Order: sequence, then C-alpha cells, then structure tokens
Amino acid sequence: MQWNAGQALNDLEQAAKAALPEYVYGYFAGTAGGGESVQDAAAQWGDVRFRPRAFTRTSSRGTATSVLGVPLQTPVLAAPMAQQNAATPLAELATARAVRRTGSLLGVSTNTSVPFAKIAAEGVPWWFQVYVMKDRGLSDALVERAAAAGARALLLTVDTTRLSSGGLIIDPLLWPEVPGKTRLANLLEEDLSGLPGGATEAAGDLTLDVISDLRERSGLEVVVKGILRGDDARRAVDAGAAGVLVSTHGGRRLGRSVTSIQALPEVVQAVGGDCEVYVDSGIRTGDHIAASLAMGARAVFVGRPMLWGLATGGEDGAAAVLGGLTEELRATMAGIGADSIADITADLL
Ligand code: FNR
Repeated sequence: MQWNAGQALNDLEQAAKAALPEYVYGYFAGTAGGGESVQDAAAQWGDVRFRPRAFTRTSSRGTATSVLGVPLQTPVLAAPMAQQNAATPLAELATARAVRRTGSLLGVSTNTSVPFAKIAAEGVPWWFQVYVMKDRGLSDALVERAAAAGARALLLTVDTTRLSSGGLIIDPLLWPEVPGKTRLANLLEEDLSGLPGGATEAAGDLTLDVISDLRERSGLEVVVKGILRGDDARRAVDAGAAGVLVSTHGGRRLGRSVTSIQALPEVVQAVGGDCEVYVDSGIRTGDHIAASLAMGARAVFVGRPMLWGLATGGEDGAAAVLGGLTEELRATMAGIGADSIADITADLL
C-alpha cells in the first residue's frame, strides 16, 4: 500500500469499515457515552498552531529518539489494543512486524490473542499492558510471564475500573477452538474453567501501591496509562512510576472526559521532568505528533489507525500507518524549523 502524506486516515477507516464485519468495526470504533471527548479532541488537535522558526537547519529531520532508554527510529508507537486477531489473522504478529520495519515500539494488551513467546520472537521492543484483575493472581501471573518473555516495561492501565458497556466481541467468535474459555491467550494452558465468575474482570479498587508491587514482581519499570490530571501524575511518579501516558483510552471509558491535549500541559508541569510523559487518543497527523512533543511528550501512541491499517493491509497496512505518520512528522519538522526530535520545543507553539 502506498501512503500519501496527508491522506486522511478517514479514508483508511472507511476502507476498513467496508472490509470488516459490522460488529468488529463497531467494537474497534466504539466510544463511551456520546463520544464527546473524541469529538472535542478532534477539534482541539485541529486548533494547534505553530510559531515556525526561521534560519535553522532542517536538512536531516531525524526522528530517532528513545523511550525509557530503548532507542527507536520514531516517536510514533503502537498502542496496546485487544483482539487484533479480529483485524487480521496474524494479529499482534503483523503489528510487531510493522513496528520492526519502522523502528517503533509495540504495546501488547492484556487481551492479546498471541502468546508472549511468539511476540518476543519478532525481536521488537514491547511493553506489556496490564489490567489488574479482580483475581490478582491472574494478572500477577501474566506480568511474570511477560517479564520472563522479555517485555521492556509494563503499561499499567488505570482508567478501566470496569468493563465498558461498549462490550467486547463474544469470545467464541474469535477463538472457536476454545469455546467458552477465557480470552487470555497467555493463560490458556492453565485450566481456568473453575475460576469464580468475574475473576478476570478489572479490579475496581486500584491503589497506588500497585505500582511498586508490579515493579518488584516483574523487575520492570511501570508506565501508568490513562492519566488525565496533574495531581494523579505526581502521585504516580512519587509511587515509583517511570512514565505516565496521558490518555482517554481513545474515549472508550468516559464520554465526557477532558481530552488528552487539555490534560497534557498540567501533567508535564506536575511531573517536572521526573518521569517520561507520553500521550495518545485522537493523534492522527504529523502536526498532532509535533504538537504533542512540543508540549512535552516524549512519544505518542496511535490506536485505531493501526487497526484500520491491519484490517486493510495486514503488516503492510500497519507499517504504512506508522511510517506514514512518521513521514508526516518529518514534513511538519521542515515547516516548523526542527531538525531533530530534541529541536521540537515548547516555543514552537
Ligand atoms: C484499545 N485500548 C486499549 N488500552 C488498553 O490499555 N488495553 C486494551 O486492551 C485496549 N484495547 C483497545 C481496543 C480497541 C479496539 C481500541 C480502539 C483501543 C486503548 C488504546 O491503547 C489507546 O489508548 C487508544 O486507542 C488511543 O486512542 P486512538 O488513537 O484510538 O484515538
């Protein structure tokens, strides 16, 4: 697939919509409530205006960077998303290969349909996204397995204290070989049939000590995903988080939340350089990425556009999204007068 810089990802979404069963598209595109924060985010990202620099070198426009010490070729990262096997048969393996081609980083959902060992064999840096479950033993077991398989960090999602009414796809449709069983591919070798109902639901009572618990259990750094307030970011850092991901979960958890772009400045200010800050939810263009970095984010995660790429072109489609957005970022860098990621500073806004 050929990427045209500036091609609206909307077109890709329309192609994916046509290619996917209606219920899968509905699950991928779905939002909580009336989708208010998604609409707000689109408007607010669109309102970004730059103060371009003159008399600067922009001949390289290098996008190399690092997150938590892991060197990357782009600050455009693949968000953890459940059930990618509904988008393309190779699921996260296709995403991993796209990530490898673009020098990015892979987020792997608790609800991945691919065993960790297979993901690890792709040789890309990956972070394991943790949902702390009602049965803590299950999420602990997943975390230990992810760490043993080579995850570089944990992404602890804190915005999901209950499953949204938007609902997951019914499992047997996706795992016909394991009718009625859990969707937790990485625990499938265990006999989970005797678990009490609700054991794999999200714990509704997360406290800050989960951050140090997870660090000790895994030996990995913890990045807290789903922060929308400066005070929460500060508390997370003080409790040992190495990073925070400012996110509305793509508007899937609360219809009327503030947007990531609204929350990002107060989070950056509250952590004061004591941890890395990332952002996602509604990031669709090179301008959005450059603005995020100028506001103090170290990298951005991209969610649904990856699914649209996977659904229309598998690995190639996903690579086109990551690579296309990185190319758009380079075009924006040329426009604003930035020759490297480090050059994208707050004065450009
Ligand atoms: C998600 N997201 C998500 N987040 C998470 O922490 N664990 C998960 O399992 C999932 N699953 C998931 C499934 C689907 C279908 C979508 C669309 C999203 C949220 C994801 O990581 C990210 O925060 C948002 O998708 C970013 O917003 P955009 O880029 O989709 O607007």
